[in-house]
Amino acid sequence: MPATLIDGKATAAKVLGECRADAADLAAAGTIPGLAVVIVGDAPASHVYVTNKVRTCGELGFHSEKIALPAETTQRELLDTVARLNADPAIHGILVQSPPPPHIDEAAVIRAIDPAKDVDGFHPENVARLALEDPAGFVPCTPAGCMRLLAEAAIPTAGAEAVIVGRSMIVGKPMALLLSARGADATVTLAHSRTRDLPAVCRRADILIAAVGRPGMIRGEWIKPGAAIIDVGINRVPDPSKKSGHRLTGDVVFDECNEHAAAITPVPGGVGPMTIAMLMKNTLQAARSNKP
Ligand code: GUN
Repeated sequence: MPATLIDGKATAAKVLGECRADAADLAAAGTIPGLAVVIVGDAPASHVYVTNKVRTCGELGFHSEKIALPAETTQRELLDTVARLNADPAIHGILVQSPPPPHIDEAAVIRAIDPAKDVDGFHPENVARLALEDPAGFVPCTPAGCMRLLAEAAIPTAGAEAVIVGRSMIVGKPMALLLSARGADATVTLAHSRTRDLPAVCRRADILIAAVGRPGMIRGEWIKPGAAIIDVGINRVPDPSKKSGHRLTGDVVFDECNEHAAAITPVPGGVGPMTIAMLMKNTLQAARSNKP
């Protein structure tokens, strides 16, 4: 029997509705939430994400600033931009789109962002707060979106075997912390490219989080019957039948896994819309705690 679809578009719309109401309350109290998005270089996919983030700010009544810097931007120039935004009282959240060009030391740029404005939750101080289960920190947007999808789909995490495939700092690692935290109470396995017998590990999962960035890596036979699958992969694959020449596909072979799972996110329309929605939530959190 096909799985229930976990509708990321509908859940994101609900979260954005909450954000719009919260932004209006904040505005009435004299604070307009402000987000700055910095992008270096001209990677087309990154530009699409950044444009969507800025457009969503406009729709919610946030102030936003898009700073598009050329690919040749130096580390010094990028750090100067971050310093200017750290000091700008109209900006509550700062995001530097990842990945930057290879000559940029991304870790140093992240460390330069004021942790109180780090709405991506990538600064070491916020990573530590997540590990410490301190709610004052910022939770990275994509894992936060995955947790909200599980909650909205009423998928129980307590006592569940959760397997995460992919150990990135943006998704896999924070996801492991969130699912194993008090309150979520899952038993977590953080798997990666060097995991021995990955199919067997995945077959243990009541909740499978696919975040490797390899199109179609996870096959139907890897799925425990009745599992919930969250597919974080947003991979561009060539498709001559499309006007753009490409289409988006997940890390999971949807048609195969759909036959075994109880619930699954589609790509597109699953995790993708949730990332922006949670970014807006984090910007509100920054605006509330960091008023001008
Ligand atoms: N690139 C892909 N996902 C993200 C994200 O959540 N934040 C930033 N800054 N860059 C990304």
